[in-house]
Amino acid sequence: MNQANQTIDSTTPPHLKHAKLAAWVAEIAALTEAKEVLWCDGSQAEADRLFAQMVASGSVIKLNPAKRPNSYLALSDPSDVARVEDRTYVCTAEPDDAGPNNNWEEPEKMKGILKGLFKGCMRGRTMYVIPFSMGPVGSPIAHIGVELSDSPYVVVNMRVMTRMGHAVLDALGTDGEFVPCVHSVGSPITADTPDVKWPCNPTKYICHFPETREIWSFGSGYGGNALLGKKCFALRIASVMARDEGWLAEHMLILGVESPEGDKSYIAAAFPSACGKTNFAMLIPPKSLGGWKITTVGDDIAWIKPGKDGRLYAINPEAGFFGVAPGTSEKTNFNAMATLKENIIFTNVALTDDGDVWWEGMTKVAPDHLIDWQGKDWTPEDGKAGRKAAHPNARFTAPAHQCPSIDADWENPAGVPISAFIFGGRRSTTVPLVFEAFNWNYGVYMAATLGSETTAAATGAQGIVRRDPFAMLPFCGYHMGDYFNHWLRIGHQVSQSPRIFTVNWFRQDADGNFMWPGFGENMRVLKWIVERCNGKANATQTALGWTPNFADLDWSGNDEITEEQFEQLTAVDVGAWQAELKLHGEWFSKLGQRMPRALSLKRELFELAMVD
Ligand code: GTP
Ligand code: SPV
Ligand code: MN
Repeated sequence: MNQANQTIDSTTPPHLKHAKLAAWVAEIAALTEAKEVLWCDGSQAEADRLFAQMVASGSVIKLNPAKRPNSYLALSDPSDVARVEDRTYVCTAEPDDAGPNNNWEEPEKMKGILKGLFKGCMRGRTMYVIPFSMGPVGSPIAHIGVELSDSPYVVVNMRVMTRMGHAVLDALGTDGEFVPCVHSVGSPITADTPDVKWPCNPTKYICHFPETREIWSFGSGYGGNALLGKKCFALRIASVMARDEGWLAEHMLILGVESPEGDKSYIAAAFPSACGKTNFAMLIPPKSLGGWKITTVGDDIAWIKPGKDGRLYAINPEAGFFGVAPGTSEKTNFNAMATLKENIIFTNVALTDDGDVWWEGMTKVAPDHLIDWQGKDWTPEDGKAGRKAAHPNARFTAPAHQCPSIDADWENPAGVPISAFIFGGRRSTTVPLVFEAFNWNYGVYMAATLGSETTAAATGAQGIVRRDPFAMLPFCGYHMGDYFNHWLRIGHQVSQSPRIFTVNWFRQDADGNFMWPGFGENMRVLKWIVERCNGKANATQTALGWTPNFADLDWSGNDEITEEQFEQLTAVDVGAWQAELKLHGEWFSKLGQRMPRALSLKRELFELAMVD
């Protein structure tokens, strides 16, 4: 490297004692030819400085402090708006260890590709060193990562989503373990290529090396592609750690349910992306149910470990919510709206004329004029013509502690004991409102065959059911067949395995209307689930599992659902299930040799049971 390219590292913390970390940072700074290295301390002052820089360069807009104190809006490049699953790789020595559920490349070959892409990719930019902890700093359940990124937007987001900064370096000490995470937007600044508002690269690689526990991400600045503590670490790498060490890393919300008598249970639920985890985690029960209360532990990721008492204990490894904005309103998610009052980073929502934000579904009536997520003028006329003001995957980054329903134990390093797992996708037909699996293995079967329908906007074809087992298809860092086996094993290791339920809030009538009101009304189903766990609620045996009769749910204050509608919501259509079970078979055969025999046999048992 010549003198002109020499990286300046002026901020190495004086107390840094971790030689391996220092050497790795120097190595990546040299490879990427970053202009300077900045070690993040995680302080408010540092975040303020970065926001001020980003405001000055035009990459974020400061919102009106009277409306939305200390909050910012980032508008991404239109080509960089979501995770890129087709560019996401799991690189293991044996292709079969990544499984048919992942894109695979040979580790050394991928390292070669990445070294080529990362060479000089941070020229003209600052490389930020972001030490972060998934889970409370210093807690025995936490795991540490260090992300090197050339995006200040990533720094300020990681500060909200994780515990970030100098305290993490202190916890690492001289030789603590960390997962190295290298991230670049892949857009060096040169005389010919000046900086842009949202730098990114048309070439994208989101790469995981589970065997050496490394993450390399190139070309995107958005969400799960760039905030590497989240899907890359806390799910793809952590799922491998969990397999090896006997625990679970899951795409699940965690909530607490308190009965009017003060009995408290905790539930973990897996719904695929944009299928209602944040909503369910912050649910406000109808008052008519009489004093039930929901508290929030997490809205996206759960790390779950067997406890000494034979129960499973869950923690939320994150410190913030990276939630879907469109559809969020005081009506659908009051607690989320209250969380969003201040200290928020919004991405790809619309800007109002008074310096606040708006998105589809926030209010019934749209403002007369907006700047849309692409920076263009927008009026309700544009909305009528089908142009969205906010991108459908527009998100908010919000500190979890600001949530009014946050659980008192959300940072308890021991976690919270899980009484039930719930699995659910978007299914317009076939899948009933709720049913309980006969036992652990049946529950694993239901989760392993979880399906969800894509919307017309996303694929051009509506009603296509995709299998998204455990809502983990894009996030499991190893072969899905091995993952199913791991789940089967864990359930039998613990003496008090949680009960397993399937829900479907999305069943539609012949006219395409949702048959179930959803949102707060989901409490009626949740109450039944909790009472099943406590042996207090009745159910009827069906071919699928235990289902409630109309009389088994609490309908206090209900004026929406008739008994007849409930029958339709919970009906098991034998013909539809015979077809469904065939699809399960096709899905299982894709997993080949590593498909657990216990689940294939369950499928055959279901087929035998599914007769008129
Ligand atoms: P990720 O953050 O992508 O993992 O997703 P998430 O599961 O947290 O998604 P989120 O809660 O943000 O899902 C939002 C979408 O689900 C919006 O379109 C909501 O309107 C819809 N939704 C949430 N709950 C319900 C419900 O009970 N009924 C219906 N019909 N829609 C719901
Ligand atoms: C998801 O897609 O499931 C998310 C958003 O939670 S992201 O973090 O971008 O992956
Ligand atoms: Mn998610």
